[in-house]
Amino acid sequence: MDPNSKYNLNGKLDSSKISLKLKPTPILFRTKYGGSPPAKRIKLNENGVNGTAKKAITFSNVNGHSLKPKVNLQEQRRNLPIFDKRNKLIELMKQHSTLIILAETGSGKTTQVPQYINSARLMENGKIAVTQPRRVAAISVAMRVAQEYGNGMSIGDYVGYSVRFEDVTSKKTRIKFLTDGMLLREAITDRLLLDYSVVILDEAHERTIHTDVLFGIVKNAQRVRVERHLPPLKIILMSATMDVDHLSKYFNNCQVVYIEGRTYPVQMFYTVKPHDNYQTACVSTFFKIHREAPPDHDVLIFLTGQEEIESCAHQIRMLSKDPEVEGPPVKVCALYAAQPSMQQMAVFQPAPVGTRKVVISTNIAETSVTISGIKYVIDGGMVKSRTFHPSTGMEILKVQRISQEQAWQRTGRAGRESEGLCYRIYTKSQFELMKKNSIPEIQRANLNSVALQLLALGIHMLHFDFLDKPPNDTIEAAFEQLQLLGAIDDINSKVLTNLGRKMAKFPLDPRFSKILLSAEKFGCLEEALSVVSLLSSESIFLNPPSKREEAQNARQKFHSGYGDHLTLLNAYREFENIGQNNRKVWCHEHFIHMRNILYVREVRSQLQEICKQCDIRGSSCGSQMDQLRKCLLSGLFMNVAELHRDRQYITLDKRQVTQIHPSSNIHGQQPHCVIFTEVVQTTKCYLRGLTTINSDWLNEVAPDYVKNHNIKFQRDSS
Ligand code: CDP
Ligand code: MG
Repeated sequence: MDPNSKYNLNGKLDSSKISLKLKPTPILFRTKYGGSPPAKRIKLNENGVNGTAKKAITFSNVNGHSLKPKVNLQEQRRNLPIFDKRNKLIELMKQHSTLIILAETGSGKTTQVPQYINSARLMENGKIAVTQPRRVAAISVAMRVAQEYGNGMSIGDYVGYSVRFEDVTSKKTRIKFLTDGMLLREAITDRLLLDYSVVILDEAHERTIHTDVLFGIVKNAQRVRVERHLPPLKIILMSATMDVDHLSKYFNNCQVVYIEGRTYPVQMFYTVKPHDNYQTACVSTFFKIHREAPPDHDVLIFLTGQEEIESCAHQIRMLSKDPEVEGPPVKVCALYAAQPSMQQMAVFQPAPVGTRKVVISTNIAETSVTISGIKYVIDGGMVKSRTFHPSTGMEILKVQRISQEQAWQRTGRAGRESEGLCYRIYTKSQFELMKKNSIPEIQRANLNSVALQLLALGIHMLHFDFLDKPPNDTIEAAFEQLQLLGAIDDINSKVLTNLGRKMAKFPLDPRFSKILLSAEKFGCLEEALSVVSLLSSESIFLNPPSKREEAQNARQKFHSGYGDHLTLLNAYREFENIGQNNRKVWCHEHFIHMRNILYVREVRSQLQEICKQCDIRGSSCGSQMDQLRKCLLSGLFMNVAELHRDRQYITLDKRQVTQIHPSSNIHGQQPHCVIFTEVVQTTKCYLRGLTTINSDWLNEVAPDYVKNHNIKFQRDSS
C-alpha cells in the first residue's frame, strides 16, 4: 500500500447508517511521521531520567527481532525484551528497597517481574501483590502467569487474583494480582500490608486515584516496618511511560531502571480535515485498511465506551458481510472494562487463519493489555472520563480529547511486533492542541470514597503525603459530603462515626453504602440490596442496535413510572422468581444480559453478607415502593433535581440546568422531582438513572441538609 496515497471509499460506505447502504465518507489522511515516536521523548543516561533520578540505568536491546506468536509459552517468555535483563534486574531488586522499572508496553513487566521475584526468593515468607488499575488487566495477566507456571496449576492456586466482588485466591497463593482499589481496601485492615513482602504498583503512569493513594500507603508502610523492626517491604513501581523524575523524587530519589523494548517504526497519518463523527471515520478507515491489507494484519481501534464500541462492532460485522465489500472474513472483538471476563478473554485469542481480527477498545488497550498481531491502529482521539466540579458538586462523565501522551501510546501499539501503521482521526493541528499529559485522576475526580477509606485508616486527607495534592475545594467537598451522610461529625474530624465505620466496610460509593445502612429504618433491605447491586454492575438490559424496539417491547412489563431504578428492580425480581432451568430462555426473551444479571446476584450476596456483619436486620417492603424511594433518597439527597420549565431540570444543590437523558424510562414523563445517579455531558447536561420522589420527603429524610444548605423547591409538588 502506498502510505502517501489519499483515498476515498468510492461511494462504497456510509457506516453511520445501519441500513448499510453506501454513501461516500471519504477520510483523507496525510503522512506526518515515519518512525517510532515514544522512545525519543526522554533521554536516559547514567545521570538518570533527564538527569535527575540519580542512578538510572539504561538497557539497550541489541538483537531486536519480532516475537513469533505461535511458539510455546516458555519460548515466548525467553523472547520478551525483559528476559535478557533478568539477572541484572533481580540483582537490582535485591539491592534496592524501592525500584522503578520502565519499559514499553509488551516488554514483559507485568507477567515476568513477579515470576523473577518469586524464582529469586526475594519475598521470603510474604506474598507478592501486583496491582492493576483495571479488573480486566488483573484477571487476564493472572491467568496468563498461572498458565506460564504450567504443571496443571490452575488460577487461584499459586497465582491468583482479587477484584471487587471476585476473589480467586487460596492459602497457597503467593503471587496475587489485584486491582489497586482492592489493595487499598486490604490496607484498611492491614495498614502495614504485612501480608506482603513485595508490592508492585503496576501501570503507575496511569495515575488512578487508588494508585496515587497507594503510593503514600506503601511508602509509609515501608518506613514504619523498618522503624518497628518488622519484615521489610519491597516496593516496585512499573510504568510504560518515561516521565518518572517526579515519582522517583517522591520515593526518596529511588533507583530507576529503563529497559529498552523492541519498537518498530510506525508510519503515521493524520486526517486532512477534522472529523466530528470520529466513530464513523474509524469505521471508514477500517474498511480502507481491510480492502488492502493481508488478512493476518490485525487492527486495533480506539473508541471511548461500551455503547460506541458495540455500535461500531455491529457496523463492521454487518458491513464486512456485504458482498460489495472486499476483504477477508473479519473477527470483531470488543474490549471495555464493563465487559464480562469471558468475553474480554476472547480478545486475546488469535483469529483463524485467513481471518482478520479487529479489536475495538477503550483506553484499556493503551498500556494495560497487550494483544498480539496488531499491525494497524486507528485512533479516534477521544476518551471518556469522569470529572468532578466542586463548584457544581457534579461528577460528569464526558467524552474528551486524549492527551498527546496517550496518542503516542496508542500509536506505539502498532509497532510491537513489526513495522506498523497508525491512522489518527484528527489533524496535525488538533494533535498539537492536545494537552501534553493527562491530568491525574486525583486532581479531577470526586474524592468521597477515598476520603472515607483514608479516614478508616485513621488518616485525614488534608494531611496525607500525596505525590500530587488534590485541589482543596475538592477535598472540602468530599468532607462536606461525608458529614452530610453522617460518616463524620464535623469536616475536620479525623475519626469516623459509628455509621461511617460501617460505611467504610462496603466496597461502594459512600452514598450507596448509606442507602443500605438506612434500609432497616425504611424496612426495605431486600429491595435496597437489589437496587444497589444492579447499580454496581453493568447494565442487565441488552439493546442490540438492530432490535432496539423489540427489546423495549419485551421489557415493557418491567416499566415502573417511578423511574429507572425501580424498573431494574422489577426485572430483577422476576428473574429471581424464574426457576433455574428457565433462566436462559427468560433472559433471551426479555433481552436481559444473563451473565450480567448473574453477576448482580453474586454482588448482592456479598453485600448482604456485609450487611449481616453490620447487624442490619433483613426486611422487605413488598409493594410499598415509597419506602424504597425514601431509602434511595437517604443516600442520594444531594442528587435531587426539580422540573423547572419544559423538560429542564435544575439541581437543588448547586442549581445546575440539566435534562433527563433520553434513555431513561421516564423521559418525556416530566415528573416534578427526581433523584439521579449519573450526569452525562454531551451537547447538553443529562441526568441518567432516575427515581421520582415527592419533594416533601427531602425534609423528612435529610432535614439537616435542607436546613444548612438552604435547599428550596421553586414549585410545590402538586
Ligand atoms: O507489562 P508489559 O506491558 O511490559 O508486558 P506483559 O503484560 O508482561 O506482556 C508480555 C507479553 O506477554 C505480551 O507481549 C503478550 O505477548 C503476552 N501476554 C499474553 O499473551 N496474554 C496476556 N494476558 C498477557 C501477556
Ligand atoms: Mg503491563
